[in-house]
Amino acid sequence: MGKILITGGAGFIGSHACVEFLEAGFSIVVMDNLSNSKEESIRRIEKITGKTVDFYKADMRDEAAVRTIFEEQDIDAVVHFAGLKAVGESVAKPLEYYENNINGTFVLLKVMREFGCKTIVFSSSATVYGMNNPVPYVEDMPTSATNPYGYTKVMIEQILHDLCVADKDFHVVALRYFNPIGAHKSGLIGEDPNGIPNNLLPYIGQVAVGKLEQLAVFGDDYDTPDGTGVRDYIHVVDLAKGHVSAVNYAMEHEGFMPINLGTGNGISVLEMVHAYEKACGKPLNYRIADRRPGDIASSYANASRAKELLNWEAQETLETMCEDSWRFMQQNPNGL
Ligand code: NAD
Ligand code: WQD
Repeated sequence: MGKILITGGAGFIGSHACVEFLEAGFSIVVMDNLSNSKEESIRRIEKITGKTVDFYKADMRDEAAVRTIFEEQDIDAVVHFAGLKAVGESVAKPLEYYENNINGTFVLLKVMREFGCKTIVFSSSATVYGMNNPVPYVEDMPTSATNPYGYTKVMIEQILHDLCVADKDFHVVALRYFNPIGAHKSGLIGEDPNGIPNNLLPYIGQVAVGKLEQLAVFGDDYDTPDGTGVRDYIHVVDLAKGHVSAVNYAMEHEGFMPINLGTGNGISVLEMVHAYEKACGKPLNYRIADRRPGDIASSYANASRAKELLNWEAQETLETMCEDSWRFMQQNPNGL
């Protein structure tokens, strides 16, 4: 078992991945600047696993800081979650998004190459399928984006692809996540967004816990079975496990490989609302509102490449995703 550097490991998906890597027997080093997370999540990872985490509060754009980590730790592979991720904010602050996500990845890749560490699993997104591909999304469809955040994912995938063409020693997997939700079964780690949530599940959770008044359902006139938007929601622990499989795959395979991590099933906004009502045992206050600009009707994965190459498929259900999310909300109504 090797030593894995997890960038962004204090964040929502990264913290769950830390738990799965530790439980699979890897040792881990976390680098996070805590711009969208708290150090408390590192303590909670240690509490869940009973293992220690080497934590560096550092910014991935700081080349000297990244180099220090590689000097002090014998890193075998990198799992790269660090990045800014709010779509609306990226439209308002494009330079900040390009600078953080792309420049940060440059610095990381340069230092990795310097130290001969050439295996990386990158957090990409289903957003790279853009607006014009038919569902279900298959990895060899053309990629595009509609906002600066999405372009950072498209561009970083291109950079990683080009690097693999130029240097045959690079081993890269780009995992295209669909919609991660849920929380660890312990209720100790979960999604803890700053301010008013943009994403559906944290918004529903805050309505359920009484912090927000009412959910606005963005449109009920889409070409979907009940008219509301359809997405491929995936339990964050399933997603985290996919990273352990992806690192094992990447270690054995050179070149660039994009892989969807989704369930392959589409769930509508109203189905999600009703599933959450069942989990929390009370009705949720919601109203139908206008469509949100930039939203598409349906997004879900063809999940067969992950099954074929990683021997991975999602295990959790819509019910357990809502129950686990609700447990985290109840145990942490004010976040971590
Ligand atoms: P998150 O914000 O909870 O985690 C990202 C972490 O990266 C945070 O802890 C943040 O502090 C850290 N970070 C940001 N910039 C940094 C920098 N310059 N240096 C060091 N650390 C930095 O987000 P998440 O939901 O866990 O997402 C993780 C990754 O997965 C991101 O790259 C995101 O774009 C991608 N992704 C997320 C989703 C989703 O819906 N959550 C979907 C697809 C892809
Ligand atoms: C899901 C559904 C909304 C909020 C975004 C990013 C994407 C990825 C994941 C990182 C849609 C509806 C939502 C609300 C609602 N992130 N909705 N009321 O838009 O699929 O994806 O997060 O890569 O890039 O774009 O996720 O959770 O925002 O929305 O009705 O208050 O819920 O219209 O149908 P989305 P979401």
